[in-house]
Amino acid sequence: MSPIHSVVRPVVAAMTGYVPGEQPQDRRYVKLNTNENPYPPSPRVIAAVQAAAGADLRLYPDPVANVLRDRAAQVYGFERDEILVGNGSDELLNLIVRACVAPGDRVVYPYPTYSLYDTLVGIQEGTVVHVPYPDDFTLPHGLAEAGGRVTFVCHPNSPSGTPVPIEALRALARRVPGVLVVDEAYVDFADANALALVHECDNVVVLRTFSKSFSLAGMRIGLAFAPAPLIAELMKIKDSYNVTRLSIVAATAALDDGAWMQANVEKIRRTRTRLTGELAARRFAVLPSHANFVLARRPGESLEPVYAALKSRGVLVRYFAVPQLRDALRITVGTDAETDALLAALDDLGP
Ligand SMILES: Cc1ncc(COP(=O)(O)O)c(C=O)c1O
Repeated sequence: MSPIHSVVRPVVAAMTGYVPGEQPQDRRYVKLNTNENPYPPSPRVIAAVQAAAGADLRLYPDPVANVLRDRAAQVYGFERDEILVGNGSDELLNLIVRACVAPGDRVVYPYPTYSLYDTLVGIQEGTVVHVPYPDDFTLPHGLAEAGGRVTFVCHPNSPSGTPVPIEALRALARRVPGVLVVDEAYVDFADANALALVHECDNVVVLRTFSKSFSLAGMRIGLAFAPAPLIAELMKIKDSYNVTRLSIVAATAALDDGAWMQANVEKIRRTRTRLTGELAARRFAVLPSHANFVLARRPGESLEPVYAALKSRGVLVRYFAVPQLRDALRITVGTDAETDALLAALDDLGP
């Protein structure tokens, strides 16, 4: 073991989801494994970033990104001090766990869900409490009773794509003993969102990202909406300059062109319907998805060989090597051409 390995705490190495070689950026692959948007960001975003890529880059960014907070406040009906800008919503999840969780504290969430929650709680030496989803991925009982300092609900959930009725989230917010974090990374592809709960309950944080519906994963921008006192606490522990000048410009311009995002969302929803039907015709069980991906299952059958065979044919999808998901693949909704390539590769595998 090299010296550096002896000083890095083993929990980090054991729990991080990063697998070298599994995030290929080259164009040989049809990349349907990390739920990026297959369509480009608005031309207005690209023009704004190009205009900002000049001499001012020598200057630090605004540490609190007020231009973006003010635009987001207008668009979503909030006050500036109810919004925190993060380096992707991953940073915001990290800040919440660091702010709220001491070693041994319970952090509760329905499972399976976004794997980063496990990683962050593990690093903080909190106690992960998984409350299993039933087969239909409806919100399980027992979440509030599990007594989390933080309770996460991913809405719609990854990897299932399933939504939760807002009324159920409202009831949960009123019963949990700590903070309820509603991670709405994919909510622009769904029919309803939980933002109103932030104004109804003093313990709710709603997270959004520009990585999915706004096609800006490469810019790393997320937003937390929460009551002002909660935002003030998170603000204290963030890095001073946590988002770049160009990221602030890009996200602000993206909010200025909501119609572009909506048009892409509509295309993806149409392709999602088609993909769901085509997968069903190929012996996969697919729950109706409210996100930009679908979970395709063959109950009782390991899909790891299908994942590997698709990869060898140039199509990357996501396989989770955990017992609850070994019969499943999570497939990002790409363009229609990418969907055709996926279906052709599946047909090439045979029944
Ligand atoms: C459920 C969920 N939350 C948060 C994120 C992180 O998004 P970001 O790119 O904003 O860090 C992802 C990314 O895949 C996600 O799936």
